Amino acid sequence: MPTYEATSTAPVNIAVIKYWGKRDTALILPTNSSLSVTLDQDHLRSQTTSRCDESFEKGDRLWLNGKEEAVKADGRLGVCIRELRKMRSEVEQGDEKLPKLSQWPLRIASYNNFPTAAGLASSASGLAALVASLAQLYELPQSPSLLSCIARQGSGSACRSLFGGYVAWREGTSSDGSDSLAEEVASRDHWPEMHALICVVSDKKKGTSSTSGMQRTVETSPLLQHRLTLVPGRMKEMESAIASRDFDAFAALTMADSNNFHAVCLDTSPPIFYLNDVSRALIGLVEELNRASKEATGHLIAGYTFDAGPNCVIYALEGNIATVIRAVQRYFPTEAAFPDPFGVLGGKEAGEVDVKGFNVEWSSAWDKGSVKSLIHTRVGDGPRKLGQEESLLKEDGTPK
Ligand code: DP6
Repeated sequence: MPTYEATSTAPVNIAVIKYWGKRDTALILPTNSSLSVTLDQDHLRSQTTSRCDESFEKGDRLWLNGKEEAVKADGRLGVCIRELRKMRSEVEQGDEKLPKLSQWPLRIASYNNFPTAAGLASSASGLAALVASLAQLYELPQSPSLLSCIARQGSGSACRSLFGGYVAWREGTSSDGSDSLAEEVASRDHWPEMHALICVVSDKKKGTSSTSGMQRTVETSPLLQHRLTLVPGRMKEMESAIASRDFDAFAALTMADSNNFHAVCLDTSPPIFYLNDVSRALIGLVEELNRASKEATGHLIAGYTFDAGPNCVIYALEGNIATVIRAVQRYFPTEAAFPDPFGVLGGKEAGEVDVKGFNVEWSSAWDKGSVKSLIHTRVGDGPRKLGQEESLLKEDGTPK
């Protein structure tokens, strides 16, 4: 009797044009399109193993990082599983000889190689890995864009984690959500020099969840209406910045859109504050680096962005990322040693800021640990299929 099992990994994505607001909360249809960069799974990923077996006790079971989570039929996970089962059952109807996997109970184990509640979009990579592994288990013929419609119903931003590179989530117009899906706007290989530095400001669970925060914004923020008139133009500008590998335009738009999103949060009633003093100081540092760099070379050096939490993601090109890391280390000494996965720091003094005209007096250094750790990564690929030796499940269908 063969084992019906599949293991997949999926990446984290960090938006440069933010999704914030739903026009349909059940189907998770957004009030605006968004665009993200997929980060490298060598550094950040969710891994999921799905198995189905006729002999399992009735009912689906799922473990996240070793802890069992209830799978409610009308919950987000339950909806994703139901929709993928439906797709499998259509495949089975077309071919009598196929095993009726759609009717068998599931056992699913998922694991993130980074802290779940660090505000690092773990729901996005987690749900994308779930969808990717079930699609593999069920041998579904659907394209990644069609599968992204399922991931979207698990968590909006998850739909973008089904692709590598530079990814747009098109808001769509149809009320059933069939055209609200993700698509690649450029592959990783089109612009592989894009690096990212994640400054982990807090690894505690975030205050206001994105789901409830964005709903409150939709209900109360007049400024959101203005944001919605800006985003279509910004999507076009961002796509052309990526098409022409124009980092200045990419960084300027990324920072503007992050600031606009956080302004909309402040305009929500009661207001939502995701940034803290350390986040704002990181903005100050990148602004000073860019001011000096623009004066010296005519170009920007980095672009910051923040999601629903205080952590800062700084995008910079490969040739400039070491400068950014050194500058952050000088003003925000971390508790954890920096692992330097790309070996970019060799040769220069730690803390030296090698941008002509950079004003070292712009701020004094923060207390050690204000930024807890730094994660250096870069643009990456989409979901990966792993072999059976990477399975997260034991023989009996419980997690290893
Ligand atoms: C700030 O995808 O977590 O990260 O659809 O309710 O699950 P739900 O929300 P979620 O929101 C992410 C919001 C954001 C911006 C973004 O990723 O585009």
